[in-house]
Amino acid sequence: MPTKTTGCPVSPLSAAFDPLDLTDPFPLLAQARTEEPLFYNADIDYWVITRYEDIKAIFQDHDTFTAANTITPIKPFSAEVRQMLVEGHYTPVPVLSNNVPPDHTRIRSLVSKLFVPRRMRHFAPTIRQLARDRLTALLAQGQADIVAALTYDFPAYVLFHVLGVPDEDVPQVKAWSDNRIELYYGRPSDEEQIERTKGLVPFWHYVVDLVKRKIEQPSDDLTCDLIRMRNGDDGILTVNEIASCMITLLVAGHETTTAQITNGLLHWLRDRKQWELLGEQPALIPNAVEEMMRYDPSVCAWRRSVAQDTVIAGVDIPAGANLLLMLNSANRDETLFPDPEAIDIHRENVKAHLALGYGIHYCVGAPLARLEMTVLFEEMTQLMPSLRLIGNQDLAYTRNISFRGPLSLEVAWNER
Ligand code: HEM
Repeated sequence: MPTKTTGCPVSPLSAAFDPLDLTDPFPLLAQARTEEPLFYNADIDYWVITRYEDIKAIFQDHDTFTAANTITPIKPFSAEVRQMLVEGHYTPVPVLSNNVPPDHTRIRSLVSKLFVPRRMRHFAPTIRQLARDRLTALLAQGQADIVAALTYDFPAYVLFHVLGVPDEDVPQVKAWSDNRIELYYGRPSDEEQIERTKGLVPFWHYVVDLVKRKIEQPSDDLTCDLIRMRNGDDGILTVNEIASCMITLLVAGHETTTAQITNGLLHWLRDRKQWELLGEQPALIPNAVEEMMRYDPSVCAWRRSVAQDTVIAGVDIPAGANLLLMLNSANRDETLFPDPEAIDIHRENVKAHLALGYGIHYCVGAPLARLEMTVLFEEMTQLMPSLRLIGNQDLAYTRNISFRGPLSLEVAWNER
């Protein structure tokens, strides 16, 4: 466990920062970028980093800054919870997000082969059909909370298709994933922590059973691709590592995309000219998707821990310190992105955003995320050209440090 940083000064800006309140983090982060680009937050014992160049340099230097803490619970597990995990045979191991080289390199080299564009193209027609079917089924309704009606589970159905997981398990896995996010990235009470752990153990066993079934009955999906790469050799990948990859993918592969699609809809519909333009010129959609990831990334902050004493933004930071990298702030850094508070779907250097990370841990699912978001928006701008927000809405966000997307978004469209 990293050592606790003590005696760090708490500035007024730091005192005003609530790392779990994602309602509107942007004004404070803009202030931090100019006045105090790095500050210590005693609430969670993390150093908060806000400038693009510092965050990118941290991502690049994986010897000094390791990803070992990316799935560490913000509120440490109690002794009772740890006991429940031992008794429940909860045995995932670090494989991707929170792993370090050389182990990370070995596993990542296999998992990244699953998501190559050629393999993604194979799934593209089914993803488009899924989008069309879901939207067509909604058309007569005329209005909806688009999160409940579409964005909450559309990415999960896409992911389940590519991983070869049964569709009927989507609701259960979505519930388990929400639960896991609140357990690791939020701050549950002691009782909630115990309740949520009760959902973690069955999630793990579900994944272990799924992998066992896939070993016995191979099919044409990414889970089986990974099993084939293993070729029965634990030196390549163990069965426990495959299950650990699967539980990672079964959270990272849809919660992120759900929130990103909702963030995109919110901003494009706040300025409907953009929605209309995307309908008239669908070729703009891929760049517009990048711009919405820049402007309001669903993974708004990500973590690193300091492996050896270092200096960040002129401040000495000791080994063992924890860092919270504000990707949503880096992406609005005025030194890189001109007029950063404006959404510009033509923005030329937009792909420099850090919404998907950078370096050896760069989002391995990025080709799938880009494909499904592009396809969904292509279909949606055509089938729902009149889509609009209903009134002024108080948007609610889950209290956690990393995953930002409105929990509901009321929209309307002309019935067909
Ligand atoms: C818009 C959607 C998505 C966003 C914003 C997003 C964002 C991120 C970010 C910020 C990281 C950390 C990168 C770093 O540490 O440098 C990451 C890593 C990762 N993402 Fe995504 N992600 C998205 C979609 C997906 C999808 C669809 C999948 C899987 C199908 C996925 C799987 C992963 C995995 C496994 C990692 C860890 C990679 C590693 O450590 O080597 N993500 N993602």
